[in-house]
Amino acid sequence: MLIDPQSLEVTTVYKLMSNTIFPRPIAWISTEGEKGVNLAPFSYFIPVSSEPPCVMVSIGPNEEGGLKDTAKNILLHGKATISLADDRKAGLIEATAEALAYGESEAQKYGIAMTKTADGYPPRVDDAKAALLCSLHQEVSLIGSEQNILFLKIDAFYYADEVIDERYNVKLENIGRVGRDYLVDAKRMKV
Ligand SMILES: Cc1cc2nc3c(=O)[nH]c(=O)nc-3n(C[C@H](O)[C@H](O)[C@H](O)COP(=O)(O)O)c2cc1C
Repeated sequence: MLIDPQSLEVTTVYKLMSNTIFPRPIAWISTEGEKGVNLAPFSYFIPVSSEPPCVMVSIGPNEEGGLKDTAKNILLHGKATISLADDRKAGLIEATAEALAYGESEAQKYGIAMTKTADGYPPRVDDAKAALLCSLHQEVSLIGSEQNILFLKIDAFYYADEVIDERYNVKLENIGRVGRDYLVDAKRMKV
């Protein structure tokens, strides 16, 4: 079957893309807003370069067609912290996708403990085993799209001691996204 995306509704194209291009871990992005820490999940998230170390996150418009709080804060302050979460947090990840009024903190509303990792960066989710402390590197407007494509440079990698060894091998149990489902226990194999 060969499918022309132009013949489909946008929601169906999203369905095909998010069910086909996986696994993608969820970027649980914290940014700093007017009144506190904003926290929201993003699955259109992928590494794009090691030098400079960069990831891409694609943020759609909010319900009114304006910027989502995450994009607004990143464009305003230039900083973001990406927490990688495991399945213990699935319910909270989903909860923090709720669109709250600008300045209202999802972390506060859902009692998610946040911890400062380094000065100048938004706090990470406290019990996340890994987090990326990032600065805005480049914003790209994608032709024909309303998405805000943000390239974020990783200024520091945070790891809980138990998930990294002295040779920089990292073992994480990230939760991912496949369509509307979550993906856990991704299997590793050596070939
Ligand atoms: C698992 C998951 C993944 C999501 N991925 C994205 C995404 O990649 N891009 C996007 O614009 N919204 C995504 N969303 C929706 C945002 O999280 C949602 O619009 C949120 O309200 C944005 O919050 P903010 O306005 O505080 O930035 C996702 C939601 C969930 C639950």
